[in-house]
Amino acid sequence: MLGNDDWWRDAVVYQVYPRSFADADGDGTGDLAGVRDRLGYLSELGVDAIWLSPFYTSPMADGGYDVADYRDVDPMFGSLADFDALVADAHARDIRVIVDLVPNHSSDRHPWFQAGLRERYIFRDKPNDWESIFGGPAWTQVEDGSWYLHLFAPEQPDLNWDNPEVRAEFRGILRFWLDRGVDGFRIDVAHGMVKAEGLPDVGQKDGPQAEMLGDEQVPYFDQDGVHEIYREWRPILDSYPGGRMAVAEAWVSSPERLARYIGPQELHQAFNFEFMMADFHAKSFRAVIEKSLKEAELVGAPTTWVLSNHDKPRHVTRHGGLARARAATLLMLALPGSAYLYNGEELGLPEVLDLPDELRQDPAFLRRGQSRDGCRVPLPWTSADGLGWRDPWLPIPAEWAELSAEAQQDDPGSTLNLYRAALKLRKRHPALGGGTLRWLDSPKDVLAIERDPGLIVVLNTGEEPARVDLPGEVLLSSGPLMEDGVIPPDTTVWLQR
Ligand code: BGC
Repeated sequence: MLGNDDWWRDAVVYQVYPRSFADADGDGTGDLAGVRDRLGYLSELGVDAIWLSPFYTSPMADGGYDVADYRDVDPMFGSLADFDALVADAHARDIRVIVDLVPNHSSDRHPWFQAGLRERYIFRDKPNDWESIFGGPAWTQVEDGSWYLHLFAPEQPDLNWDNPEVRAEFRGILRFWLDRGVDGFRIDVAHGMVKAEGLPDVGQKDGPQAEMLGDEQVPYFDQDGVHEIYREWRPILDSYPGGRMAVAEAWVSSPERLARYIGPQELHQAFNFEFMMADFHAKSFRAVIEKSLKEAELVGAPTTWVLSNHDKPRHVTRHGGLARARAATLLMLALPGSAYLYNGEELGLPEVLDLPDELRQDPAFLRRGQSRDGCRVPLPWTSADGLGWRDPWLPIPAEWAELSAEAQQDDPGSTLNLYRAALKLRKRHPALGGGTLRWLDSPKDVLAIERDPGLIVVLNTGEEPARVDLPGEVLLSSGPLMEDGVIPPDTTVWLQR
């Protein structure tokens, strides 16, 4: 059934955060067997692919983005046999599998670091002024007085990509997972691996440097040399059948800079985070969509749309409520390109804001007081006690019983059924994920677009109901409608002319 090398262009990809998705062995941590058990759920949801956040051997100093063995599964998540079984079953259901690759840094428990293979990391006699993304200095001193670089936590030493052994190792890691049948990679910190020659000071001290510098590049991100690595990787991906792809997590200063990561010589896609950052307002959405489409034209590959992931507050909370989140989702799912969903958004889960500090595990919380744990709370599967979990690694709010997959399963108005209906329509009308987009005249605070002839998407972000003169049969709406032609606030409607 799988085929079509260009599958990723309009795919709906569901991000699984393995620790929080589903727990098959009942130890309080989600696992690969749990994902496998829920393939029926994912298939009914209608996703084209899953992206698995890291499940590799890891001491979990950064939720698995600190990898100690790139070629194995951490026992907490299962085994390589579980992984193989998951891939086989996913493929049998026509669901592709993307894995996360973390090349900028390893864990400090990686055998290379443990064995003191310093030339594979970045050691110096004296630190420069670089700061860690998680706060504090980016350097840690070791016993003999020298310092190593870690752009993230001290448990995540940066690898030295000037060293050919590091490059060879990662080519091998790519092949290892491609041989096991993965359909693609999400490249973590894809803008990070190469640092400016001589590691020059940034010269700016207060606050996270990368955020302060705006358009100017810091000497540790988006350096030209990084493209050489992707030009080495692309032929490897292309040498496997079936359209193996890679999507970059790259935070760079402009669409033009981002475009340099994409194309037939480098990666297939890069996340477009601007949509995720946009305010819930017709004007902001329009500005971002126009910019993103221009960017897509620039690179000749459709863009990606994201509303939530494991690093940002969930969009129910960010946008100010479930109605708005549902409206934003229906907008996203009608835009040309691929859409990345984050596990639990189909249940309308909000950010958990009141986790006790002592339970928070995000290293960013310890270093700069900001925590991403609130979007990583395990998913409620049932409404019974425990919500489908025994002693979950983060507590699940009791009121999520109402949001559980079980509670929403047969409720036609549930968010779960809205997502299912939207993905079904997206399959039936390929123009929703592909095709052209034309802006239609609309009142203030309303966004109206036509997708290929005949499919119309209208979003009202204003405070009042909006009357729009756009006749058509309602295919789907994110909330209850009033009379014909009137769109309530915080609502998106898909119409068929
Ligand atoms: C991941 C984060 C992680 C960081 C370091 C990213 O951008 O998405 O979750 O903490 O890379 O690996």
